[in-house]
Amino acid sequence: MGIELAIAIIGDVLRRAVGLADTLLGMLFTNQSTIELMRHAALLDLYHFEEPTFYDKLEKARQQTNVRTALLSELLLQAQGFVSLISPAVGVIAFSPWLIVILVVAVLPSFIGETYFNRKRYSLYGWWTPQRRQLDYIRYVGASAQTAKEVKIFNLSDFLIACYDELSKIFYQHSAKLSVRTSIFGALFFLLGTLAYYGAYGTILWQAVQGAISIEQLTFPAGSFLRLRELLQEQMNRLASIASQAMYLQDYFEFFDIQPQIKAPENALRVNQPLQSGFVFENVGFRYPGSEKWAIRHASFALRPGEKIALVGENGAGKTTLVKLMARLYDPTEGRILLDGKDLRDYDPADLRENIGVIFQDFVRYSMTAAENIAIGSINDCENEPQIADAARKSLAEPLIEPLPLRYQQMLGKRFSEGIDLSGGEWQKISIARAYMRKAQLLILDEPTAALDARAEHEVFVRFSELMQGNDAVLISHRFSTVRMADRILYLEKGELK
Ligand SMILES: Nc1ncnc2c1ncn2[C@@H]1O[C@H](COP(=O)(O)OP(=O)(O)OP(=O)(O)O)[C@@H](O)[C@H]1O
Ligand SMILES: [Mg+2]
Repeated sequence: MGIELAIAIIGDVLRRAVGLADTLLGMLFTNQSTIELMRHAALLDLYHFEEPTFYDKLEKARQQTNVRTALLSELLLQAQGFVSLISPAVGVIAFSPWLIVILVVAVLPSFIGETYFNRKRYSLYGWWTPQRRQLDYIRYVGASAQTAKEVKIFNLSDFLIACYDELSKIFYQHSAKLSVRTSIFGALFFLLGTLAYYGAYGTILWQAVQGAISIEQLTFPAGSFLRLRELLQEQMNRLASIASQAMYLQDYFEFFDIQPQIKAPENALRVNQPLQSGFVFENVGFRYPGSEKWAIRHASFALRPGEKIALVGENGAGKTTLVKLMARLYDPTEGRILLDGKDLRDYDPADLRENIGVIFQDFVRYSMTAAENIAIGSINDCENEPQIADAARKSLAEPLIEPLPLRYQQMLGKRFSEGIDLSGGEWQKISIARAYMRKAQLLILDEPTAALDARAEHEVFVRFSELMQGNDAVLISHRFSTVRMADRILYLEKGELK
């Protein structure tokens, strides 16, 4: 009794310890695999993020960060299960080897069936990934601060709900069909296996009835036979489950197979401080991946150190695209861009971007504090309060930050508690402050003042040209008052410089 009590206690403690280890490892696995996913995503090129199939892969990989922790313990259980097979198998073989054959044949149909339907479910899951993302998107549009205004004004909620309903029903139908087939075939295969098993069992009993074996001889093989069948079935089921999980886990690794095209070459050059001959575009042409249209064509111009140029042109003329090429977010499709006489591709892209500050027209309004929103321009300085305040002063953001209840520590945006939202122009002043956080040799402002009132715009530009003395600047604007400040004006029309 004492031994039994000890075993009961030790058994319980061990079970809990294993459960605890599983839970803890599971959480660590989720954290670690998510971090690795983020790290890899950060390495990839901009064009990846403009490709729907990329998001399918990312979504599939992301799903694996939560659920695949059972795989390791199942693999270990499989090894353990194999060991426990040995003793009943020896018993059965000693009695009659062909019984083993019958047992294996009996569990095979159900194993093959499982594997087959697991594959089907996996391909349904893969096929459905784009639509699942669409469902997520509909849900987001239906309930988020960014969209709520328009959803109300345009009365979109019924439309969104109908979209969701329609799409989710399609998945339900496919999934239900597969589930019904899995159940029916699963039952059939199990029946087949059970019949084979009882056939063999009956044969043993028949031999006993006939007196070919005695009752004592019967007890051992019959027990082993039953046990072996259970164990085999369990092993096969687990094998099918492991194989299926491995299929899903493959999605995780496939994401890591995606490699960036834009990366530092061996012996990468570093940007000269200060620039010597500046940027030169030599017959540069660019088409967005997957697009037939030239966004930029035959672009040849130079940007000398200390020069300020303005880029003007109609919507879609290619102004923003030109900027993306300078910051090497893309490589030209034809021609080349030189920096101090060397191809831009010979430089380390990270170092190049350190030296270039770009404020895009669709800059991001981060749900972070005012200080952090400004420090975005040079995130390593996010603790440097004087530098942040200085940048805010230069960009005219200071007068709007001072009255905020928590000033620079004020959470902006409405997503988190105590967040305060700003007007369009106020946000724009914050975004311009990002440019002043950098010690960039080239600063590019893509329609930085579109949301500013006339007086603010004038003031922003007067300061900008003062502060950028001696550095390169590219200004994109549709307003004459802005472009007048540049040394030179480049006019883009349908991707070509005129
Ligand atoms: N990510 C993209 N993928 C494919 N095509 C794009 C992409 N971004 C822009 N384009 C196309 O490239 C062309 C140039 O776009 P770009 O954004 O450079 O114009 P822009 O001169 O900055 O216009 P705007 O004044 O409206 O900002 C457009 O015809 C546009 O449709
Ligand atoms: Mg643009």
